[in-house]
Formats: sequence, structure tokens, C-alpha cells
Amino acid sequence: MIPNQWYPILETKEVGNDKPVGVRRMGENLVLWRDLDGNLVCQGARCPHKGANLGDGRMKGNTIECPYHGLRYGTDGACKAIPALGTGARIPASLRVPVHPVREAHGLVWLWWGDQRAELPDVQIAPEVADNPLLHWTMHWPRPVHYTRYIESVLEFYHITFVHRDHWFNYIDYALLYGTPRKFGLDGRERYLSATKVANSRFETDGQTLRYSFDGQDENDPANSSHYDVTFTFPCQVHIKNDQFEVTSWLSPIDEHNTEHILRWYEYPNAKPFLRSPSLRLLLPRLSLYMEKWIQDIQDVRVMEGQEPKVTGRGVNKFIQVDELNAKYVAMRDRLIQEARAGAAAPAAAERTPVAPSAAGVPGVLPGGRAAAPAEPKPRRGGGKGTAVTAVRKTG
Ligand code: FES
Ligand SMILES: [Fe+2]
Repeated sequence: MIPNQWYPILETKEVGNDKPVGVRRMGENLVLWRDLDGNLVCQGARCPHKGANLGDGRMKGNTIECPYHGLRYGTDGACKAIPALGTGARIPASLRVPVHPVREAHGLVWLWWGDQRAELPDVQIAPEVADNPLLHWTMHWPRPVHYTRYIESVLEFYHITFVHRDHWFNYIDYALLYGTPRKFGLDGRERYLSATKVANSRFETDGQTLRYSFDGQDENDPANSSHYDVTFTFPCQVHIKNDQFEVTSWLSPIDEHNTEHILRWYEYPNAKPFLRSPSLRLLLPRLSLYMEKWIQDIQDVRVMEGQEPKVTGRGVNKFIQVDELNAKYVAMRDRLIQEARAGAAAPAAAERTPVAPSAAGVPGVLPGGRAAAPAEPKPRRGGGKGTAVTAVRKTG
């Protein structure tokens, strides 16, 4: 994982006031809960007493109670009560859980995975997502693939006519998105499958955001063409806009072998004028999410599971000209990891404190014996307070 970044891990609505939520992200088991004022707390879920998972525990006032022997931990991570020793017992200072900085923004919980700093940077969200006025629905699910391969797959579209074809669901896409009214949509399959060429591509870099636009075109019939705008924001946000649909994917690392795909689907602009109530306008996006989860995403994952090596990186692929966005992602990920490593090697003593290594990290050698792009340094625990979330503004 790239250290010193905000990672979206869950939807905010999933963490209520009644019980803690256990989740595995960044190679660690975490527990999320809310204090009595509703503030979100995120801590390492391993109870230091005998290792039970606090995600299975209960909330008690401003503490979380371990499900095994009832030790309770406060929002600062320190143990506040040991029932077996009774009230007033001396509590060892070492009985504490790590506290991770979290923010809530745009319907998601963001986890800071990086160095401890007095001031944390803003969450990076491109305006295509932050300022999007369309109604949307969000779902998420885990898949057994490395997040770099997942991102690589979502950043390019010329696989779609090969991977996403001939399933019954694709016939809905064929007819509605690619078919012409002149032929009552019946020419959709042919038009979809023949638009294999990437044309008119444009690329720009804007801080931690990469923008790429192109037309998916039929070489023999350039009028059969769909325009796409793809906006990638590090560490893991991909926004895709087409005349017909708009989606945002967050590929959130669970660990070195698994990724949580958080997918947001926006209302269909073409259906908006006909549908009055918000719940009706959200019906199609919700349906699309189910279709994506159970059909199209599974088709992608099937291919990714067969890929070698499992982690993408510099020198791993033989990119072709239309892999500009993939190549830039790989190069910039390397750079960000190296920057984090350089920062870790020369800590500003006042602001950085070492902590025990986390379980997360990337192996230095990729399957197949090749050296991986720089091994990802393990971040030291964050703890500082940061400023508000801002959108990355588009320039130029
Ligand atoms: S393991 Fe948590 S209280 Fe014993
Ligand atoms: Fe795909």
C-alpha cells in the first residue's frame, strides 16, 4: 500500500451508535465505533489481553468492551476497566489498542494510513466525485485480487468487448446503450463488439489526480463511438463518465491478497427527466450495482485471478500505447512509495514517532522472482488532527 494517504474503507452509514463494526483493511483488523457524541473512533481490533477481536465486542458508554473478558478501552486506546480485578484496580499502561485517524466525507469513512503528524493533509477527492450533483447509491464487496491489478483493470476499457460479452446481462447493455432506435436496439451487440479501438485519447496530470479521455471506436465506422472520461485520484479512486452512465470505484486494500471494491453508481442522466421521485431515480443505479457485483465484476475478477504476477508494477507488463493511464499509475505509485520511504528515513523528530511494525506491507519480490517496484514502507501510526476535506481542483 502507498503510505501517507487517506483510504476509504466503509460507508459512514455502516457505523451506527449501537454496536462496533469489525473490518479488515490495510492488512490489519480494525474496529470502528462511535463515542457518546457520535464521533467516529477507529482502533486496532486485537485486544492486547488475549487477542480477541474487539469487532465482536460491545459499546459501553465511551468505551468498547472486549467480548472475551470484558476489558474496556476508551477513545484514546487506553484500557479503562478490568472487571476481573474490580473497580479501582491498577491498570497497566501497556494495555492499550492503537488509535487510527479517520474522517467522514462524501458518505465514506476514510482511514489515514501513514506517519503520525501534527497536521494531516486533506482527503483527496476529485471534483468529478466531490461536487457531483447526481443522486447515487453505493455498494461494496471483497474480491481475492491485489488492489494494483484491480485498479489497472478499471483504468482501461479496451478489455470490455472481450471480457464483458455474451452474458445475458450484456444483451441489456447491447440494446440500451449501443443499439440504435432505427433498428430497435437489435444492432447493439454488433456495434458493441466492433468498437474495439481506442481513439482520440488525451491525458493530463493534476497533482495526485490523473485524467484520461478517449473514444471507444469502431475502426470501420467511426460514427459508432463512445466517449469516456476516466479520472484517477491516488491512492485508489477511479471515476468513469460516459454519456450514458457515471460511476466511481474505490479499490480499498484489505490485505496483500484481497481488495474491497466500493462502487458508487449515479442516476442515469437520460432517465432523470422521466423519473420524479428520488427512490425511482435510484432504482436503476441500484439494479446496475447488483448486476456489476454478480456479473460484470465477476468476469473481471476471473481474468485477474489468472494474471501473473499478482501485483502490477514497473517492468511487470509490456504496455502498449493506449496503456498511458496504466503506465502513469504504476510510475506515480512508485514515486509516492519512494517519497514515503524517504520521509520515513529522515523523520522530523518533533513530528514523527516510531511504533511497532504493522502487519501490512508488500513483499519485496514479486511472484516469479522479479524485484518488485520499491517495497512499500510500513507507516508509523497516525494520530494528529487534520483539516477539512477538500476537492482536488481541476487546472488548465
Ligand atoms: S481477550 Fe480481551 S478481555 Fe481478554
Ligand atoms: Fe471490466
